[in-house]
Amino acid sequence: MCGIVGYIGNKEAKPILIDCLKKLEYRGYDSAGVAILNNGEINLVKSKGRLAVLEEKLNHIKVEGTMGIGHTRWATHGEPSDVNSHPHISKNGSIAVVHNGIIENYIQIKEFLAGKGYEFRSETDTEVIAHLIEHNYDGDLIKAVLKTLNELEGAYALGVLSIDNPDMFVAARKDSPLIVGLGKNENYIASDIPAILKYTRDILILEDKEVACITRDKVDIYNQLGEKQQREAFRVDWDVSAAEKGGYEHFMMKEIFEEPSAVKGTISPRIKGNEIELDKLTITDEMIQNCEKIHIIACGTAYHAGVVGKYIIEKLARIPVEAEIASEFRYRDPIINENHLTIVISQSGETLDTFMAMREAKKRGSRTLAIVNVVGSSIAREADDVLYTWAGPEIAVASTKAYNTQLSALYLVALLLARKKGLLDDGMYHQYLDQLQQMPDMIDSVLNKREQIQKFASQHFNAKSIFYIGRGLDYALSMEGSLKLKEISYIHSEAYAGGELKHGTIALIEEGTLVVCSLTQDQLFEKMVGNVREVKARGAVVLAITCEKNASEVAKIADSVITIPDVDSVLAPIVAVTSMQLFAYYVAVMKGNDVDKPRNLAKSVTVE
Ligand code: AGP
Repeated sequence: MCGIVGYIGNKEAKPILIDCLKKLEYRGYDSAGVAILNNGEINLVKSKGRLAVLEEKLNHIKVEGTMGIGHTRWATHGEPSDVNSHPHISKNGSIAVVHNGIIENYIQIKEFLAGKGYEFRSETDTEVIAHLIEHNYDGDLIKAVLKTLNELEGAYALGVLSIDNPDMFVAARKDSPLIVGLGKNENYIASDIPAILKYTRDILILEDKEVACITRDKVDIYNQLGEKQQREAFRVDWDVSAAEKGGYEHFMMKEIFEEPSAVKGTISPRIKGNEIELDKLTITDEMIQNCEKIHIIACGTAYHAGVVGKYIIEKLARIPVEAEIASEFRYRDPIINENHLTIVISQSGETLDTFMAMREAKKRGSRTLAIVNVVGSSIAREADDVLYTWAGPEIAVASTKAYNTQLSALYLVALLLARKKGLLDDGMYHQYLDQLQQMPDMIDSVLNKREQIQKFASQHFNAKSIFYIGRGLDYALSMEGSLKLKEISYIHSEAYAGGELKHGTIALIEEGTLVVCSLTQDQLFEKMVGNVREVKARGAVVLAITCEKNASEVAKIADSVITIPDVDSVLAPIVAVTSMQLFAYYVAVMKGNDVDKPRNLAKSVTVE
């Protein structure tokens, strides 16, 4: 939800904190702030608005010091304002805190502290942490933080500094991401790795409820009981440019263009000698034979990938699958047993609803398999098995390359299950593997259609409402196309199953309404042609997405046609989605929207 950073070293903290925060702004962008310790004083500068506003403010203020913490916010408690921005300072001004997460019992703590004479300046849950640490402090900051954490309920990643400790700061986490970066005579904390990649590649991951004491030359980690923990650092081998825009106007466009390589990176290493080998998956053949049901749980775009997963696993492996939104699954008392497999999908690996839904499934005896992009994230660490989508960092709030790679992983799982169950003969199996490996080139050919898509977007960016329709896998695809458009263009949009439209929604189609129709499924092609005719007859303008082989036929009934290569219907969504992402992107650009940081959203949703 929010992004936090911390630095201690021999360099000026201000430019480093701002530089790191720029990489975290995708996590929250309604306000930002820094606290830098110098000569026994905490210099606190914060402001409402984008990070650029804070940066401008800092350009006119002398803020020196070689240790500091910083924050970029996505408001949960209290509106975006200077006073609600982090860092928050304790009553006597000696302790500063940045926080990502939600403190669920903050009202009770607030009442307790109010009774002790503490006054609150902000509406945030975070301010109570600063005061509570001060209240618990008796000269030992680590102890005070540990005691405070024991009294907090909820999720947190924290950076804490105090006037009494000019050569160290403290970090802690529970259910919110936080990593420690190790440098030479300097150390860092951040909400994610790309934020500090420019400065160090040596990373320590903090476990839940651990506290780190960070000085210039070492990092000590303690568990809840205050016992010192051993932790091996790992070295990140990605390219720094993976987290930079690299000449593109927006991260979103860069990430769409990375889809061919991301898909290749997810698929290729897992096909060895004409067989699928899925990392170190511990699911046995016996478990697969006994698997009665699969639950796929996720949120947003990852959920839409899950809906595709349902269709393909059921089709290929003949195992019943339920794809479900994590926030619904969590609270509906789901029927699960030990012969069920739960697949959770998450780009960030930190989405709270998905994480908690996974715990719920585990608690009820199900095995869990996580399809996750961020290495070492909470979901990845807690699942029984992990299948990483090697998409590289995804910075734009609107998920693009993560979706194609999630689909890639799901295809691998579906094919493996089908193979193990003896449902695919050698010929079919190897044909699918061959086609799967052609996906990067096919996505490339859709990217080459970008000018045509841009032209179409330029004719329709003023639309009030846009419908997406499709049948079968095209319906699943339409859900994602519609979400992409909504989140960055702010145009009202709905996705409907082609056959369902006439049961109500068709009443909304009038002269000029834009309907994006997907016709990539051979078996359902004629049915969809019928649905296109139905909306055309009511005045709709139709943008059709179909395979090359059907282009001329579809051109007779649609206003515009975007073609994708002739791909097996089962694999079509992985290719076709790119055209929808490009369409949403160009519409949003033409509307002048902030494509990478759409209003009201944040990249990683760690609140319920
Ligand atoms: C997609 O464009 C979104 N911004 C959002 O729906 C996202 O997919 C969802 O919040 C799930 O995130 P996750 O994959 O990190 O769990």
